[in-house]
Amino acid sequence: MAQINDDYLKLSGSYLFADIAHKVSAYREKHPETELIRLGIGDVTRPLPPSVIRALHKAVDEQATAEGFRGYGPEQGYRFLREAIAEGDFAPRGVAVDPDDIFVSDGAKCDLGNFQELFGRENVVAVTDPVYPVYVDSNVMGGRAGTPAENGGWSGIEYLPCTAENGFVPALPLKRPDVIYLCLPNNPTGTTLKRAELQRWVDYARANQCLILFDAAYEAYIREDGIPHSIYELEGAEEVAVEFRSFSKPAGFTGLRCGYVVVPETVKARAADGRMMPLKPLWNRRQTTKYNGCPYIVQRAAEAVYSPEGRREVRDNVDYYMKNAATIRDGLRAAGLDVYGGVNAPYIWLKTPGGMDSWRFFEVLLEGLGIVGTPGVGFGPNGEGYFRLTAFGSQENTQKAMRRIAEAGHWSSWEK
Ligand code: MLT
Repeated sequence: MAQINDDYLKLSGSYLFADIAHKVSAYREKHPETELIRLGIGDVTRPLPPSVIRALHKAVDEQATAEGFRGYGPEQGYRFLREAIAEGDFAPRGVAVDPDDIFVSDGAKCDLGNFQELFGRENVVAVTDPVYPVYVDSNVMGGRAGTPAENGGWSGIEYLPCTAENGFVPALPLKRPDVIYLCLPNNPTGTTLKRAELQRWVDYARANQCLILFDAAYEAYIREDGIPHSIYELEGAEEVAVEFRSFSKPAGFTGLRCGYVVVPETVKARAADGRMMPLKPLWNRRQTTKYNGCPYIVQRAAEAVYSPEGRREVRDNVDYYMKNAATIRDGLRAAGLDVYGGVNAPYIWLKTPGGMDSWRFFEVLLEGLGIVGTPGVGFGPNGEGYFRLTAFGSQENTQKAMRRIAEAGHWSSWEK
C-alpha cells in the first residue's frame, strides 16, 4: 500500500484562496441576484498589452513552419528572454545580473513553492507575519513546520510580526533562522521597506549565514524613491539572496504564466558534511529533472514586455491599478477606517472596525455589501483583525465598491 506524506495531512483542507472561492460560490448560489464585486484574490482584470498579443501571434505562426517550430526548449529559459531580463529589469538599476543565473519559469508561486525542496527538513524557516501563504504551506509539505500552534501558526516556523504597532517593519529574528522569506512590496499588507531597513536584513543574513528568499513580484508598483526594487541593489545581497519575479502583476500574465528566479552563482548553503555548496547547480538539477520549461510562445510574449511599447503599456496598466489603490484608500478613510499599504503596492490593508475578527468582517462585506475581500487572518496569526482589498479590479467596480461602503455609513454602524 502506498504511504502518504503525512505532512500533507497537517495542512488545512484547502488553500486560502480556494477556501474563499468556495464560500463565495456558496453565497452566490443562495443570492444569485447580488452583483458581487471581487476584490479578493490578486488577479488582474486588464487585457494583455497589445505588444504582448502581437508577439504571441507571431510566435504561434512560427510554430507552423519547419524553420520556426520549437520542441523542448531549454529548461532554464531561452537566451533571448534571460538577456532581456538582465538588461531590462536589473541593468537600469545598476545591478549586473548574469543571464546564466536567471531561471525562467511558469510563475513565482511555483518557484517559491518549489525552492524549499533544496533545503533539509531540519532548516528553521522565518516568515514575516502576515505572509503570502505559499511560503508556509510549502514548508509544511516539506516537513519543516512542526505542528499547528493554537494561534493558527506552526510550532517550527519563526514568525516575525508586522502590525500597525511596528509600522509593518519586522524586527530581526530573536533566534537565528536558516531561511528567511521576505516579500517586498509586501503581499498582503501592501507596505514596504526603505533601503536602509532592507540593508539590515542583508547584513544580518551575511553575519548569521542565513539565506534570504526575496519575493519581488510587486516591484513594478513602487512609486516612492528610496525603496529598492531588487534586493541586489543592496551591498552583499548577491552572497545571501535568491530573488523571485513574476510577469503576472505588472504585465497581466496571471493566465499566460511566466516568472523567473535569480540564483547567483555566489549564493551557498551548507551540506551535511560541512561543505559550502552553491545553490544554483542544485536548482538547475531540480528544474531539468522536474520541469520542461515555459512555452516558447509565452517567453516571446514576455520578451515583448521589454520593448519600448511594452514598457509603456505595462506602465499604463500599473497606473490604472494604482488609481484604484488610491480610490480604495480614500474611500475607506472617508468611512472612518484605518488603512495601510496601497502607495507602493496594489494591496490595501485595513484594520477591521470595532475589533471585529477578520472572517466576521469578510461576511459583513460579502453579505451586507456584496464585496469580496480577503480576511487578514488567512495570511497568519498577526493578520487577525485586519482585512485585504486588491486594486486589481476594474475602475468601475472599484468605484462602485467604495460607493457601497460610503452608503453603508460610518464603520461604527457596521458592527451590529
Ligand atoms: C494573492 O491574491 O495573494 C495573489 O494573487 C496570489 C498569487 O499571486 O498567487
